[in-house]
Amino acid sequence: MRYVISFLLIGAAIGAAIGGILGLPGRISHRPPVEIYSDRYMPGMDRQPKLRPQKPFAFFANGLSSQLAPAGTIPRSEPIQTADGDVYRFEDSPVNTGHSVGTTNFVATNPLKVTGVLLARGHERFDIYCSPCHGKLGDGNGITKAIGVMPAVANLHDARIIEMTDGEIFNTVTQGKGLMGAYGPIVPAEDRWAIIAYLRALQLSTLGSVDDLTPEQQATLNK
Ligand code: HEC
Repeated sequence: MRYVISFLLIGAAIGAAIGGILGLPGRISHRPPVEIYSDRYMPGMDRQPKLRPQKPFAFFANGLSSQLAPAGTIPRSEPIQTADGDVYRFEDSPVNTGHSVGTTNFVATNPLKVTGVLLARGHERFDIYCSPCHGKLGDGNGITKAIGVMPAVANLHDARIIEMTDGEIFNTVTQGKGLMGAYGPIVPAEDRWAIIAYLRALQLSTLGSVDDLTPEQQATLNK
């Protein structure tokens, strides 16, 4: 009997101790959480040595906690030089922004020269980044629809999307829309334009009419 009582008492004490430390489920506590750490063996992340910006700090040559930007960093407000030798500020290039310079208007057409190389690049990048949802044809029937994880994906052959300017599509691809993520951080701007050039070719492939053929080709059709 004695054992049973001491067993119950010890059990109650342990339970009270655990409840006291962890709190009861559903209770809101305004007290700071219990911290189990020692500076030496288990440093808490709540309190840690750190430097505030622009504070004196003798360790660095300039005597400040703040350091200059690493070599090669390009401020967006400064002119940059491209591999082609062009010099412009980041925001002054429609290739970066999708906007006409100095305005908030979307550019109507692709600022890159549409060549076979660009289209081939766009084809490859489209298949990698866009076809999982939009399908290789851009009709919205990608693998994500087939396996049922994304039921409504835009059909890129919709008149509404055909009529969008290239700059607006660039904006959607860069920022994302609805369930579609942003591709700006993953796909470089030049590749996004290559994808758009290829997307236009895809759209054109279903928009062709007899009038697009040369008279000779039309003649063979009518035979
Ligand atoms: C993870 C799936 C997914 C991927 C990958 C994806 N999209 Fe989308 N996309 C969507 C969905 C979903 C919508 C419909 C968004 C909405 O209207 O809410 C959409 C809409 C669009 C639209 C129409 C936007 C509008 O204004 O209605 C365009 C254009 C588009 N996507 C282009 C692309 C391109 C180009 C790529 C490749 C870089 C791409 N998408 C990759 C899921 C995806």
